[in-house]
Amino acid sequence: MKKKLIVGNWKMNGSLAANEALVAALKQGLAAQAADGGCGVAVAVPAPYLAQVQALVADSRIALASQDVSQHAAGAYTGETSAQMLRDFGVRYTLVGHSERRQYHGETDAVVAAKAQAALAAGITPIVCVGETLQEREAGETQAVVKRQLAAVVHAVGHCVTELVVAYEPVWAIGTGRTASPEQAQEVHAVLRAQLAAATTQAEGIALLYGGSMNAANAAQLLAQPDIDGGLVGGAALKAADFLQIIAAAN
Ligand code: 13P
Repeated sequence: MKKKLIVGNWKMNGSLAANEALVAALKQGLAAQAADGGCGVAVAVPAPYLAQVQALVADSRIALASQDVSQHAAGAYTGETSAQMLRDFGVRYTLVGHSERRQYHGETDAVVAAKAQAALAAGITPIVCVGETLQEREAGETQAVVKRQLAAVVHAVGHCVTELVVAYEPVWAIGTGRTASPEQAQEVHAVLRAQLAAATTQAEGIALLYGGSMNAANAAQLLAQPDIDGGLVGGAALKAADFLQIIAAAN
């Protein structure tokens, strides 16, 4: 069976002390789980803590991820972090187009596509986030919205489409405790899979993650869906016991 991938998105949370305690607890819990054959695990940490967490996860199966990346390679872009800089800290994945970036930082489909390209050029796997708002769902626009968001990236990256990870995160399910049902999530994942299949014969190998109030109680059912290959976990990734239970459900 295809290996699943569980990514914790810490968002703007943490401190040196809290990160150290959380990673120590995760490492201890992972050591007690099956040593091999387990799912992929990554944590997307705030930029200032990349070096700290790089060192903390070095001797574990936890990979390092960034929450964002600049679409530019270098230059006068105050406050931005380039993909090459992320590489310097061992970053393996970066989120691009998280709904909080689209919503609060005005990231358009074109910007998100450029960020995915910048990540790929530096050897970092982009985790492309797509998802509809509640208003869009209620208007029956879910499929059109996620297809438009994914199409921009697929078009921009060309044959590198097989190197993407895609995360479906319905905006109405993020941080609300209101998870998409396994059927609702699977329906959208199948649409995304079909869209990828139109671009590559290897669409089956592209990891499609679900995100939005995934927790220890609902993870197993979501992960049992045929087109759900993993999870992008927010709140529950900040509690070691919960995150470990989600990982155990994906192993
Ligand atoms: P929650 O798991 O807190 O709903 O967040 C999901 C998310 O946005 C992960 O990127």
